[in-house]
Amino acid sequence: MKTIIEPFKIKVVEPIRFTSDIERKKILQKAHYNSFQIDSEKVIIDLLTDSGTSAMSHHQWAAMMQADESYAGARSYHRLEKVIYDLTQMPYFFPTHQGRAAERILYGVLSTKKKIFISNTHFDTTRANIEYAGSIAIDIPCKEAIDTSSEYPFKGNIDLEKLEIHLKKYQNKTGAVILTVTNNTGGGQPVSMENIKQTRMLCNKYKVLLILDCCRIAENAWFIRHKEQKQAKKTYLQIAQEMFSYADASVMSAKKDGLVNMGGFLTMRDKKLAEECQNLLIITEGFTTYGGLSGRDMEALSVGLQEVFDKDYLQYRIKSTAYLGEHLDKLAIPVVKPFGGHAIYIDAKQLYHHIPPYQFPGQALVCDLYVKGGIRAVEIGSLMFGKSKNGKFIPAQWELVRLAMPRRVYTQSHVEYIIEVFESIKKNIYQSKGFKIIYEPPFLRHFTCKLKPI
Ligand code: F0G
Repeated sequence: MKTIIEPFKIKVVEPIRFTSDIERKKILQKAHYNSFQIDSEKVIIDLLTDSGTSAMSHHQWAAMMQADESYAGARSYHRLEKVIYDLTQMPYFFPTHQGRAAERILYGVLSTKKKIFISNTHFDTTRANIEYAGSIAIDIPCKEAIDTSSEYPFKGNIDLEKLEIHLKKYQNKTGAVILTVTNNTGGGQPVSMENIKQTRMLCNKYKVLLILDCCRIAENAWFIRHKEQKQAKKTYLQIAQEMFSYADASVMSAKKDGLVNMGGFLTMRDKKLAEECQNLLIITEGFTTYGGLSGRDMEALSVGLQEVFDKDYLQYRIKSTAYLGEHLDKLAIPVVKPFGGHAIYIDAKQLYHHIPPYQFPGQALVCDLYVKGGIRAVEIGSLMFGKSKNGKFIPAQWELVRLAMPRRVYTQSHVEYIIEVFESIKKNIYQSKGFKIIYEPPFLRHFTCKLKPI
């Protein structure tokens, strides 16, 4: 069957308020053409992020009612501990309020003296936490990742040749190797089991820790099962368990594949490392058995971490994201290929080839999506990563726009609507103009900068 049937029925609904394009033009102007500055009530379809935006199941809501909110030794903590142990087989586990809190703790502890961290690609908060702790983050994505239109199935892989060169060069200086699964910054592309295994072997050879940034591990497991022949007979959970078996530690933002609105955790095998992380956890997050989460949060996460490996859920998740990608591709909208698990990325430099990078073609698409259809997306290009050096503009490597799909939130007709909005944008592409920045803060300018159309 061609039709993607959402593997759930809808029991609670959140109304969407429709706005007209005239209203939206005014809203956008008031928000200084920055999609982070628009109130969610004024958005029809929100594709800003897949993080913390999942719809929870009735099993999750029911579990929350049974939560134990005790400060120490709560039942809800032990339940979560068991689920996470089953998944990771790592003896030490600490809950945190979200992913970046787990990163701050782990990379804070591992950054004694200036260390080098090497990754397929560090997510921006990961890089920021490593640099904030005084260390250096190096990205070495595989060569195939460079071409946004190639269909190579595992563009999330780390470049193993470069990894060995770096490990040799930075012997005794490497803090850890980090594999981000899937690779968010690289378009939600998966890492293969073979690549994880080879990375493990190199880490053994050079006696370096291997850390999994596992916030989209279930989606990565789907790709491994369907694209890596040797793995085809395993369940998604077994694949994820094998992925963890090669790692020494893991960091998770549970706001993604944990199917919860807030939460994260850290796991590890080494006792001494765990003791140091525990100290920092207690100082900055909370006591060991809640670490920034309420009992309710831990209950919802225990259930979410099991639901996410359901085969019908994962099939729907990956296929519905691909459905959007395939239809945009048919409209000749340049999309990053193959389609990632959590998002579709548009190559705005190609689509708006009349707008130069220094006028932010990605932001032009973000604004068009909002005005034409009330769709909120995010620019991942020169507005986010571009820099200026001695007054000279240095563009980002790509001018992308991310359409991130919240989990279990939108139906196929919402996706049809998004496709129709793109159709309408495409017809009037040359009417779109670029932008210039009229205000920017010193760090992470995309969140709060103000823009003006040219
Ligand atoms: N690692 C990866 C790969 C992520 O994608 C994120 C968050 C984090 C770590 C940090 O987790 O937000 O819970 O502190 N990504 C979100 C996004 C923000 O929109 O892609 P957090």
